[in-house]
Amino acid sequence: MIAEKYNLETLISAEEIKQRVKEIAADLSRKFSDEVPILIGILNGSFIFLADLMRTMTIECEMDFIKLASYAGQSSTGTVKLVKDISADITGRHVVIVEDIVDSGLTIKFLRDRLTGAAPKSVTVVSLLMKPEVADLDFEIDYVGFKIPPDFVVGYGLDYNQKMRQLPAIYRITELDSNNG
Ligand code: IMP
Repeated sequence: MIAEKYNLETLISAEEIKQRVKEIAADLSRKFSDEVPILIGILNGSFIFLADLMRTMTIECEMDFIKLASYAGQSSTGTVKLVKDISADITGRHVVIVEDIVDSGLTIKFLRDRLTGAAPKSVTVVSLLMKPEVADLDFEIDYVGFKIPPDFVVGYGLDYNQKMRQLPAIYRITELDSNNG
């Protein structure tokens, strides 16, 4: 139903996502084998990815969420506003930022700088998706699930006007319907 309504085209299947999440979870479990990292998910988009990632990890870990809003405005230099902060104390902790997608890179840059300011032991950045043709970053994303073209995508936590987050795969929207916002 939803797929037809919005004319969705599958970009990454649920099976491919599952496999990649398993690989990243295994990498993180190895990297922090003697530690208890804290995963910090960026709301709302990362909630499904974080849940699946955490359930596939084989080491002890904790989690928290932060909510940010970005305003691109008229120019390319948008700003990011903090909507909900983490409640955990991350000083001296191994922090793993979990993002759904890095587009311009503004959100992840803001968060990385903010969390680094709290003196964690380390900061690792994980993003399920990345649009490398768009992203303007002066640091590496440590783990990228999939590099994708600069198209608008939905599903597996990512939304279009707050909808379609529940879809099991990642889809490209080929027709945006302005009546469904
Ligand atoms: P950035 O700050 O430009 O990197 O944007 C990151 C945020 O924009 C993500 O956390 C998403 O919430 C949103 N976003 C960027 N591209 C897409 C997309 O293709 N589909 C859905 N949300 C997106």
